[in-house]
Amino acid sequence: MTHCFGTGGLLTAYFFPSFLPLTISTIRDLIMTTKPTDLTPLIQKRLEPRLRKVLYSAGRSADALGWKIYCVGGSVRDLLLKKDTFDLDILVEEHGLEFARHFAREEKGTLKLYRRFATAMVIMPGGIKVDITTTRGEFYPEPGSLPEVIPGSFEEDIRRRDFTINAMAFSLNRGEFGRLIDLTYGLDDLNAGIIRVLHGDSFRDDPTRIFRAVRFQQRLGFTIEPRTEELMRTAVNLKLFEKVSPERLRHELELIFKEPDPPGAIESMARYDELRFIHPRVSYTDELKAQLYRIRENYAWFRGRFGEESISRFRIYFGALLFSLPEDAIAETGEKFNLSLKFSGQLTGVKRRSEEIVRILSSPEEVAPSQVYSLLHGSDVEILLIIMSRIDSEHLVSRIRRYLTEYRSVTGEVKGGDLKKLGIPPGPEYKKILDKLLFARLDGRVQSREEELNLVTSLVDTHD
Ligand code: CTP
Repeated sequence: MTHCFGTGGLLTAYFFPSFLPLTISTIRDLIMTTKPTDLTPLIQKRLEPRLRKVLYSAGRSADALGWKIYCVGGSVRDLLLKKDTFDLDILVEEHGLEFARHFAREEKGTLKLYRRFATAMVIMPGGIKVDITTTRGEFYPEPGSLPEVIPGSFEEDIRRRDFTINAMAFSLNRGEFGRLIDLTYGLDDLNAGIIRVLHGDSFRDDPTRIFRAVRFQQRLGFTIEPRTEELMRTAVNLKLFEKVSPERLRHELELIFKEPDPPGAIESMARYDELRFIHPRVSYTDELKAQLYRIRENYAWFRGRFGEESISRFRIYFGALLFSLPEDAIAETGEKFNLSLKFSGQLTGVKRRSEEIVRILSSPEEVAPSQVYSLLHGSDVEILLIIMSRIDSEHLVSRIRRYLTEYRSVTGEVKGGDLKKLGIPPGPEYKKILDKLLFARLDGRVQSREEELNLVTSLVDTHD
């Protein structure tokens, strides 16, 4: 199939405006000193060898089948920005799914097909993920609904995309490998640090893009161009997002919270009034802003200390946003966004006690480790990070850190079996005794099994 690429974008790549920021001057030099739109030097210089190999193999496979193939979207943007790319987006004219099957077989990769969207993923033996799509057009039966996918030309495929910086491609076929195809002036916007939609209906078609705009703005430090900003505000005012399923909204939020600066992204979301799609009563105050930055700091500390322990950034930031809502609103929003009942329950439970917890743990007076333990025990780490960030207090932070690094893993040596051997009849009393032993250990009153056994005897004696 032949297609018309249009030359507008190609031409812009030849003429670089003089106000280019210095940061991208090397990209410009690289492009200018070779063929104007040949990205091969950049690909060779910047792309990890194993990713490069995948691109060359994909090009060869498509050549053998006589099909047109491109690298497209985020991979191209990140290559031009010299940011690390981990996954590759590949676009094949007309035959995406057949190509994906063929490529997975050839490369001994694992194939996942998503027929409804004419997309596939091939997971290469080394773990690289390659998203493969067929050139397509899309139409949206109504705002916010999932698109109906229809076959389309390369140009239609490019023009249905979200932002100009995400709408660039380069060819992978032999003879034109690395040729940049920039139909929507994406390179100019990339150079100028601008996020711009391709057409006026973009947010109406896919309101998730109001979150994507904020995400890229934050991640790249870019500016949202005024008309795009206006369209975003209109989409928000028309509450188009209410037509999007909570699963999709949650997915967008998960992506936002995975960015390096979630508090900055949340601030942007608040600026565009996007937080109302979580719950109309989520209000962005200076206090919340300060808390979110403390959360980021405490999260970084936790990651540095317990790299392996899995905790959810989504639960931390989402929980912090919900924290100030009334209890029934927390429960309702938790259910809507598929938070576990256990987590929502902990959130409301801790909220009820939070003033007391914060007051005691931020006190300059001495607080026994057993008291810290009994206030915090039973809450997930995500909740503790939220509590730890409620106010700016060194005492609060250091006590919760101490709980996380020491107290939570303390156990007594005497167990239920030992109590039985001592002739104590099994029952609720066991828990009380074992708790007392644990508290004594935490406070340094017993340090060995023998001392614990002595304590048990004295407890039972006193009890008698
Ligand atoms: N895309 C779009 N509209 C969306 C989502 C995606 O037009 N709502 C297009 C963009 O061209 C985008 C590409 O599909 O670049 C791939 O989407 P995705 O993998 O979600 O985004 P990336 O741009 O690769 O961003 P990230 O680096 O966050 O993965």
